[in-house]
Amino acid sequence: MGINILGTGSYVPDQTFTNDDFTRFVETNDEWIRTRTGICERRMAGWEPVWYMGTQAALKAIEASGIDPSEIGLVISTTVTGDFLTPSTASIIQDKIGAKNASAFDLNAACSGFVYALDTARRFLETEPSMKYVLVTANEALSRFTDFTDRGSCILFGDGAAAVIVERSDKMFTSHLGSDGSGANVLFARSLMPAPEVAVESDFEDNFPEMSLNKLYQNGKEVYKFAVAALPKAFELAAEKIGVTKEEIDWFIPHQANIRIIETAAKKLGVSMDKFVVTLDHYGNTSSASIPLALDEAVRSGKVKKGDKIALIGFGAGLTYGGIVMEY
Ligand code: COA
Repeated sequence: MGINILGTGSYVPDQTFTNDDFTRFVETNDEWIRTRTGICERRMAGWEPVWYMGTQAALKAIEASGIDPSEIGLVISTTVTGDFLTPSTASIIQDKIGAKNASAFDLNAACSGFVYALDTARRFLETEPSMKYVLVTANEALSRFTDFTDRGSCILFGDGAAAVIVERSDKMFTSHLGSDGSGANVLFARSLMPAPEVAVESDFEDNFPEMSLNKLYQNGKEVYKFAVAALPKAFELAAEKIGVTKEEIDWFIPHQANIRIIETAAKKLGVSMDKFVVTLDHYGNTSSASIPLALDEAVRSGKVKKGDKIALIGFGAGLTYGGIVMEY
């Protein structure tokens, strides 16, 4: 059983941060950032809540789908930057959009979150016949825990949200999800400091005494190495399950982390960059929101059309990765 994406939507905050804006905080320059990452600008949420961004994106996806929100059976929200530890961002969005018959939960698989959530949505639709539609909304404000003193990481991230409404269908669908927790300490942000008496020896606070609570720590080189291997691997492991080949794919829509990661992975796969949807130049890395943001932009610009075969490929903290190959 596959799924049909009925409608997509996205929302980004108004505030644009150019590469030059970072020169106010750290020693950097536009040329370095463009050539090392492909990023020119990104959006910043300021104090705009994550649930608000997700709600706006969800409303647009509902409008594009032409459905009544009361027909949504499940809301899955992906975020690493929820406004609250509890309740979930999904519960708040569920209320704001009037999805009064839906269950709701958050899913955190970092930048792979959207791929994990879309795969989860399909599984719910397969096993719950009374469920008609699932809303997957990816909402992130990485600026909340970006370390603006670390020039190697702060220039990468941006804020935004995007959503899709899905229903069951007999369209082609295959997926593969993976995780390598041994790499958890190369990309992380702590939320709460453990009480001293329960602190245990760990790869995190012992090895990184200088890192601050609530800020993102990244070992850029290690993450880069992981990413250039994970991107082709996630696609290949999903595709080989049903024998779909790279030549059959119309559009590759990868997590938007760094243009050099995408170019290296494209080369490894032997696929032209023309087949890759790229939005990181104007949005930067918006974690789990980056794939659906790129999808929404590609759909609305007429690039991705019904019947196209698309590959959605995520990778990120965890270290997690995931690939979905499906008919749009
Ligand atoms: N501006 C100017 N110089 C910078 C800089 C910046 N913003 N950030 C780092 N540098 C400097 C470094 O300090 C270093 O200087 P040194 O040689 O004097 O020590 C030099 O540039 C090279 O640094 P390096 O870390 O080797 O750069 P890089 O080519 O590996 O690029 C990243 C750094 C972060 C862009 C790259 O490693 C990367 O993209 N990693 C993956 C990150 C990612 O995608 N994370 C999210 C995954 S979901």
